[in-house]
Amino acid sequence: MSIADRGTDVMMTNYPPRPLTLVRGEGCWVWDDAGTRYLDLVAGIAVVTLGHGHPAPARALAEQAAVLGHVSNLFWSEPAVALAERLCALSGMERAFFCNSGAEANEAAIKLARRHGREVAGAAKHRIISLEGAFHGRTMGALAATWGESKKAPFEPLAAGFQQVPRGDQDALRAAVGPDTAGVLIEPIQGEGGVNVIDDAYLALARELCDEHDALLVFDEVQTGIGRTGAWFSFQRSGVRPDAITLAKGLACGLPIGAVLSRPLDTGFKPGDHGTTYGGSPAIAAGALATINAVEAEDLLGNAQRMGERLAEGMRALPGVAAVRGAGLMVAVELAAGDAAGVAAALRDRGVLVNAVTDSALRLIPPLVIDATQVDLAIETLRAVLAERA
Ligand SMILES: Cc1ncc(COP(=O)(O)O)c(C=O)c1O
Repeated sequence: MSIADRGTDVMMTNYPPRPLTLVRGEGCWVWDDAGTRYLDLVAGIAVVTLGHGHPAPARALAEQAAVLGHVSNLFWSEPAVALAERLCALSGMERAFFCNSGAEANEAAIKLARRHGREVAGAAKHRIISLEGAFHGRTMGALAATWGESKKAPFEPLAAGFQQVPRGDQDALRAAVGPDTAGVLIEPIQGEGGVNVIDDAYLALARELCDEHDALLVFDEVQTGIGRTGAWFSFQRSGVRPDAITLAKGLACGLPIGAVLSRPLDTGFKPGDHGTTYGGSPAIAAGALATINAVEAEDLLGNAQRMGERLAEGMRALPGVAAVRGAGLMVAVELAAGDAAGVAAALRDRGVLVNAVTDSALRLIPPLVIDATQVDLAIETLRAVLAERA
C-alpha cells in the first residue's frame, strides 16, 4: 500500500488531496518516493529558509537535545534567552515571547493588544482591526482576524470584537480605528491572500492612527520575516515601525517555532497572562539560532534580493504573465489566462513545485539559497508550460 493510500486511510480530511509523497531534500531540490527530482519553489510554504538538509539547524538541534532538550517555562534556559537577544538586536524590538507556530504567535499578539487596551482604557478597548485578504492562522482568535467566509463560517461563533477593512482603503481604515481599538494587525505583504504588497503610505497611516488612539500596531511577519523579502523583517523596508511583530515560518528552517517581538510595554502581559509548555524550548531555540547565524554567514538577505529580482524580472517578461508582485523571494505570478492550479500541475509534471495561491496566481517562495541557474530553470519551465497552453 502506498504512503498516500495509507495517509488517506488514517489522516483527517482537512487537507485537499496531496499530489506527491516526498522522501528527501537537498538545498532547493526534493525527491519523491518514485525517485523523481523537483525544484522546490514552495519550501514547505516559506519555511525552509536554508534549503533542505542544511546541517546547521540539524546539528544544533541534535547537540542541544542531547544535553537538555526541554525545560518548560518554569525555568530559564540559555538558548531561548540568546535567541530573544538576537532577534531583538536584529529587529530593534526589546521583548520576546516564544511559542510553536504562526497562529499561536498571532494569538499571543492579539492578547497582548487586548491586555494593553484594557490597561489604558478598560474592557471596551478590545477591538482588533485586520485587512481583507488577511491570513493570520486557523486557531479561533487568529481565524477571527483572518479574511474569508469559507474558512470561518463552519466554525462560528468565532471570537467577538474583530473587524476586517478593505485593503489599501485609507478612508476605511480611518473610519475603523477609534477609541475602542486595541490593535491593528497587518501582514506587510499578504501571503496566503495572494502576495499583496501593502503600500508604505497605508502602513504609515496605520501607525499614525494607532498612535492617535493608543492602540498597538502589530505586523504579522510570519511569512515575510527572517530574510524572505530581502530584509530581516519586511517592516525594515517600509520604515514604518510597529509595536510588535509576529514570526514563525522561516525562523527555524522547519523546526516548530513562533515568536512575538515587541517594544517594552508597561501595559503588556503580567505573570500568568499567557503561556505555552513548549515555547522557547532549548533544542528548538538552538535550531533557530543556528538558522539565523547561517542566514547571516551565507548572505541570504543579499541572495534573496538578487535572486528575487532575477526571478521577478524573468517572470514578468514571459508571454502569458499579466503581472508580478512581491518582494525578495516572495513572488506572485499573475497568469493572464488564469487556471493557476492547472499551470502548477503542469509545472510539477516538468519537475518544478509551486503553489497556486489564488485561482489566477502562482506563488514562488523558494529556499533563500536558490541560485541563478535554478531561478532560470523555473523561468524557462514556466515559459514552456505557458507556451504549450497558449
Ligand atoms: C502571515 C501568516 N500568518 C499566520 C500564519 C499561520 O501560521 P501557522 O500555519 O504556523 O499557524 C500563516 C501561515 O500561512 C501566515 O502566512
